[in-house]
Amino acid sequence: MSAPADNAVAGGVRAPKRARIAARTLRTDRWWLPPLLTTLGLATFVIYATVRAFVRTAYWVPEYHYLTPFYSPCVSTSCVPGSSHFGHWFGAFPGWLPLGALVLPFLLGFRLTCYYYRKAYYRSVWFSPPACAVAEPHGKYTGETRLPLIIQNVHRYFFYVASVVSIVNTYDAILAFHGKTGGFGFGLGNIILVANVVLLWAYTLSCHSCRHITGGRLKHFSRHPVRYWMWSQVTKLNNRHMLLAWTTLGTLVLTDLYVMLVSSGAISDPRFVN
Ligand code: FES
Repeated sequence: MSAPADNAVAGGVRAPKRARIAARTLRTDRWWLPPLLTTLGLATFVIYATVRAFVRTAYWVPEYHYLTPFYSPCVSTSCVPGSSHFGHWFGAFPGWLPLGALVLPFLLGFRLTCYYYRKAYYRSVWFSPPACAVAEPHGKYTGETRLPLIIQNVHRYFFYVASVVSIVNTYDAILAFHGKTGGFGFGLGNIILVANVVLLWAYTLSCHSCRHITGGRLKHFSRHPVRYWMWSQVTKLNNRHMLLAWTTLGTLVLTDLYVMLVSSGAISDPRFVN
């Protein structure tokens, strides 16, 4: 990465009125470390999730009704028996189509357009800029005013779909309280599934769009005590949005990995009831 030539750019750090500094940055600390770690973290999740979405194995534990969130809802006749909690909406999917294809694009869109993730990948992947006081390599900046980045403004609609998916995941987690021979059962897998759902709700409700939906456009909070209370609660979560964004990436992988290991017989699920 190098700074653009002076005559190539009219704006940014090379704008005529800016100080003429030849070095890309005067920072001497390890400013490159956070963007590097962010890139590695995101890349790890994307690779893992992509591989898991396509393998079509070990996503359902028939004894305990554990279903990985990567395959939920499973609404194709290609899904293994028992895993389609909402019935079959489609016939068999071809092998190249993930069984969770109905929701994966929306979940991906929700994360990609998230305000926190935008900040993370604009800095770490797009270097725009990579860190405070470090010049970016791009010649011009148009922000989110043109295609393709203007699409970021549909984030609110991804939020609505993500809320529905959280309801679906909650239903899956409730159905998973299932014993080996039927009836009620409870094991370590239930704790993992429930923890994942609770954190997914926390992440979803901490969304900036949710904060605006609950408290935006109000001129007087005092006249809308219920919305003010909701906005206050969402704001508390919103303060932890970055933490929840990373935590839920981790819990999604952990939940999927656990279901995969139990389903494949690599480990057995410690049971507390049945
Ligand atoms: Fe991050 Fe909406 S701002 S999910």
